[in-house]
Amino acid sequence: ALSAKHVREKQRLLVVANRLPVSATRKGESSWALELSAGGLVSALLGVRQFETRWIGWPGVNVQDDKGQKSLSSALEEKGFIPVFLDEETVDQYYNGYCNNVLWPLFHYIGLQQEDRLAATRSLQSQFSAYKRANRLFAEVVLSQYQDGDVVWCHDYHLMFLPKFLKEANSRMKLGWFLHTPFPSSEIYRTLPLRSELLKAVLTADLIGFHTYDYARHFVSACTRILGLEGTPEGVEDQGKLTRVAAFPIGIDSERFIKALETDMVRSHIQKLRGRFAGRKVMLGVDRLDMIKGIPQKLLAFEKFLEESPEWQDKVLLVQIAVPTRTDVHEYQRLTSQVHEIVGRINGRFGTLGTVPIHHLVVMQDRSLEFHELCALYAITDVLLVTSLRDGMNLVSYEYVACQNTKKGVLILSEFAGAAQSLGAGAILINPWNISEVAASIEDALTMKEVERKERHRHNFMHVTTHTAQVWADTFVSELNDTIVEAELRTLR
Ligand code: G6P
Repeated sequence: ALSAKHVREKQRLLVVANRLPVSATRKGESSWALELSAGGLVSALLGVRQFETRWIGWPGVNVQDDKGQKSLSSALEEKGFIPVFLDEETVDQYYNGYCNNVLWPLFHYIGLQQEDRLAATRSLQSQFSAYKRANRLFAEVVLSQYQDGDVVWCHDYHLMFLPKFLKEANSRMKLGWFLHTPFPSSEIYRTLPLRSELLKAVLTADLIGFHTYDYARHFVSACTRILGLEGTPEGVEDQGKLTRVAAFPIGIDSERFIKALETDMVRSHIQKLRGRFAGRKVMLGVDRLDMIKGIPQKLLAFEKFLEESPEWQDKVLLVQIAVPTRTDVHEYQRLTSQVHEIVGRINGRFGTLGTVPIHHLVVMQDRSLEFHELCALYAITDVLLVTSLRDGMNLVSYEYVACQNTKKGVLILSEFAGAAQSLGAGAILINPWNISEVAASIEDALTMKEVERKERHRHNFMHVTTHTAQVWADTFVSELNDTIVEAELRTLR
């Protein structure tokens, strides 16, 4: 299904996602600083260049005045980005509330603390209304940009009502929806109050995509069990109307990383880092500061490894890059303090006057990590540690593989990341909840022979460079075009 036969030369594509690829900060009445946004969705979609793309989303900042909205809109429009302005109350109820305190934890099987869950239940109705209201605002902006023949591609759990609102306004619109997170087992999903409305809204899309076959299967069984619809190998059928459901594993723009490694800037940075870490093996973690990433579990496993292998204590270090997001949500604040506490304890326990075993770097807007620094870090790393408790795909693991053609380092990867299904052959797969197993895998990775490292890397490199973001988008859009043609033929029959 990798053919792009129905993808028109420079087809116009409207990408709609909650967050724009850049987030804005106000510097003056009409002046703005734009920073690249974090997360897999943005990094994959930025690699999709084969369409004439307009990207519609929230600029990550509250702007209510006319002057501000106009100046920000024109700064963004130069780059093909169209802002959806959300007021503070909506951001709080829709983004912090329903999206990140209800759907996100549920989709990742994260149990909120009882008190938070109860509080969430109490405010559910108002959060749900805000969620719908926000989805309507997105729909209005999409409709203002839409031209006949455009393909509209809605993304992620923030926008599950969007297909419905758009189809109500224009039933001929070609419309796909893609989920960047896992879709949970129907046994988990059915605990969500208002579960049916969301499913029905998503089902108005022509094509629904997930990263893995398992997520797609969970979605179909939620539709059959909760809505009583029929699941078929093609998708979900409701009174003769079929919605296609399939897996489209995302990838990265691997060329961008491979090319960057050839530049003088990255090369000289590599030299610098090699000097700084000389005589030590480097382990690396790069995560948004999110409870799904299993950062405490990773730190505890590293601590156990140091404890059990004292001969490694001054020969290895862990660089943990943390990117804070959703800092207004209680659960994220709790995680931040927990991580700081564990890092402090381990560094106190195993550090010396000269150095500490964990280099914990919190990347903020004013201390951002440049792309060339990240590439250099990936390139000099011996072992990358991905310990997600659940993760839609995890593109950090892909980025690491893309940068490892010289060193052929080892990827330790959680079996609960979608990437375990694509990079499993080359990675050491672990269960992040089993701290002893992760500690043992660290030892295995650090002592692995070159022949084996090469062989494992070869598998993964092949995958990452062939299953790219471009191929992912081509496949999805061409399948969407096919789906529409088939549906038209069916109505003619
Ligand atoms: C995940 C989600 C994206 C989201 C990103 C960053 O990758 O799937 O939709 O944009 O996290 O999270 P944030 O809340 O900062 O946009």
